[in-house]
Amino acid sequence: MKGLILSGGTGSRLRPITHTGPKQLVPVANKPVIEYAVEDLKNAGITEIGVVLGHKGREEIQEHLGDGSDYGVEITYIIQGNPLGLAHAAGTARDFVGDDDFVMYLGDNILNEGISELVDSFEAGNYGAGIALQRVDNPQAFGIADVDDDETVTRLVEKPDDPPSNLALIGIYVFSPAVFDAIERLEPSWRGELEITDAIQELLEDGFAIDSHTVDGWWKDTGKPKDILEANRLVLQDTEQLLTGTIKDGAEVTGTVQIGESATVQNGAVIRGPVSIDSGTTIASGSYIGPYTSIGPNTTIDGAHIENTVVIGESRITCDEKIVNSLIGRASEIESAKGLLPDGHRFVIGENSNVKL
Ligand code: DAU
Repeated sequence: MKGLILSGGTGSRLRPITHTGPKQLVPVANKPVIEYAVEDLKNAGITEIGVVLGHKGREEIQEHLGDGSDYGVEITYIIQGNPLGLAHAAGTARDFVGDDDFVMYLGDNILNEGISELVDSFEAGNYGAGIALQRVDNPQAFGIADVDDDETVTRLVEKPDDPPSNLALIGIYVFSPAVFDAIERLEPSWRGELEITDAIQELLEDGFAIDSHTVDGWWKDTGKPKDILEANRLVLQDTEQLLTGTIKDGAEVTGTVQIGESATVQNGAVIRGPVSIDSGTTIASGSYIGPYTSIGPNTTIDGAHIENTVVIGESRITCDEKIVNSLIGRASEIESAKGLLPDGHRFVIGENSNVKL
């Protein structure tokens, strides 16, 4: 069994964060989203992994994951170029996959229960594909499976106006190499993409059985800022205490907290976990870091109260303000305007930014 992680796409729903990098490298609990996929594949015993790259962030992803040896896997890069759809992306990996079965993992998805059950269930039968499903409230936004009374998959449809069920295909699939012939027969969908959902429907029509597995634990597609915050909350609530940095006397730290190498929580700072603070970061006196917050590396927080927020890193937040439910891009600076005239807020904000005062 091989693995395929799709890391193309434009990341348009995560702008401005993705103006300067791919969405698969946005950190959740201080770990880039794509690393969760690599780890899930590794934990399922899959170490030969192809990473499909688009135009955007190609170098950054290659630089970050390298040859995979840091993660105990072997990574091959496959260039898709323009994001012409998930089935197109899978099709570009035909030579890499060869005659093997493979898991296809969307590089912006995170799920907490891993993929071993899905893989084991596929391997135990004779299937053209295996899909992972979860009930959702907004089935129009996903690929949807229709199943009969004994849970056999009978039909699949991508982002339907009139959904036959609320069982969404989550972004992890297992395929036999038969999928490549199905992909070759596909026509672009209404959104101009070759849909993987349509390829699975083709397999059904060709007479292949489709294995389905309902995912009980949480799953997140991290396509939008609020999804990043939600994924960050879900991951942090399951993390364990890890104190590598320094907590100075007089600092108040409670709950589950991860403090990275050479990070410092100074006297008079308050931290209420679950919180993750990455290496080289300083939380100065008078600052409060509240639950479900991740502060990235080499950042200074001085005086701010921050909750349910992701600060990506290399930043300075030195104002006496409350910041909640926020996603703050790399190398940002938020400082006090007190005493400056004329009185008022001051911004240098990139395209597609969003501010609530
Ligand atoms: O998240 C689950 C959903 O993912 C499924 O329910 C849908 O059936 C499936 O089509 C997909 O829907 P999205 O519209 O959310 O997919 P998105 O365009 O966001 O792409 C998912 C990932 O695949 C993302 O990491 C970018 C990558 N990608 C996407 C395209 C279109 C590629 O590598 N190449 C591509 O051509």
